Amino acid sequence: MIFRQLFEPVSCTYSYLIASRRGGEALIIDPVLEKVDRYLQLAKDLDLQLVKAVDTHLHADHITGLGALRDRTHCITVMGEQSKVDVVSMRVADGDTIDIEGVSLDVIYTPGHTDDSYSYLLGDRVFTGDTLLIRGTGRTDFQNGDPKAQYDSIFNRLLKLPDETLVFPAHDYKGDTVSTIAEERAHNPRLKVKSEQEYIDIMNNLNLANPKMMDVAVPANIHQGLAQQRIAELGWAFNAAAAKGLVGGPDVTLIDLREKRERERHGEIPGGLHLSYHDLQENLAPGGVLRALGASGKTLLFYCAFGERSAMAVQAAQDAGITTARHIEGGIDAWKKAGGPTA
Ligand SMILES: [Fe+2]
Repeated sequence: MIFRQLFEPVSCTYSYLIASRRGGEALIIDPVLEKVDRYLQLAKDLDLQLVKAVDTHLHADHITGLGALRDRTHCITVMGEQSKVDVVSMRVADGDTIDIEGVSLDVIYTPGHTDDSYSYLLGDRVFTGDTLLIRGTGRTDFQNGDPKAQYDSIFNRLLKLPDETLVFPAHDYKGDTVSTIAEERAHNPRLKVKSEQEYIDIMNNLNLANPKMMDVAVPANIHQGLAQQRIAELGWAFNAAAAKGLVGGPDVTLIDLREKRERERHGEIPGGLHLSYHDLQENLAPGGVLRALGASGKTLLFYCAFGERSAMAVQAAQDAGITTARHIEGGIDAWKKAGGPTA
């Protein structure tokens, strides 16, 4: 396995680049905007293709690299289902997995630092975001933070992991890089409490100043900019209401770009083909399924969860000469809100 812990010194953020092999697919956890060039260079050096960029939560102290990585690699951007971040193209929930070639992260919902905080477990290591830090825990006094929820996340979820599980947090301000569950249980001063109420009282009386970047970082992180805005300007988008009039028609081929798990969890629009975004380039290449469908002259109507992957797919298909490529703005989420049927 390739596993790289990368550091951004201004906000003391750790990001993690993970792949199963040289030459394979990679994902990155908690990328920082200022370091995007570095991540991409490293990925190139190791011959990796970045296919997913994941944030543990909405960060208040730095600007995420999710938007820039999406723009430069067309990767899938992933956060939890509570996330209000526009750039997110796949939302996950407790019990889901985040998969790339040879790597599968187990998704654990660990709210408390924020209401959209997740931890991700990869075998013998867990990425705890700002939920569990080394000898500390993430503050709970803004962004819908909740010390009671955090107590539950830490004591009833994270500390239930095997003792030897390696803890990789999103930040460390003292230069520590890794800990273990057993070590934190024994030595983390915040966890030496006798009751949930004692933990809540500690967290409610920290009286910390707001992060320096908070007023800039939070709005910038929520509004990274949508791939679908440009596609709409080019006239290649249908809103959900208009799409309802097209789907099922003889001149339209509907294509679902989501992953199997998303289809099972959220349903699908009846009558579509399933061609995962993961295989887009292969399907658009000469001899590929999409190339053949494009030659039919029918409208290729892509959709995904929220319209971001499908917008990138429209651009890629148009670039490949398929001028009939369109998508459903806002994805199946918008389709459902418009009263569209699902199966
Ligand atoms: Fe945070």
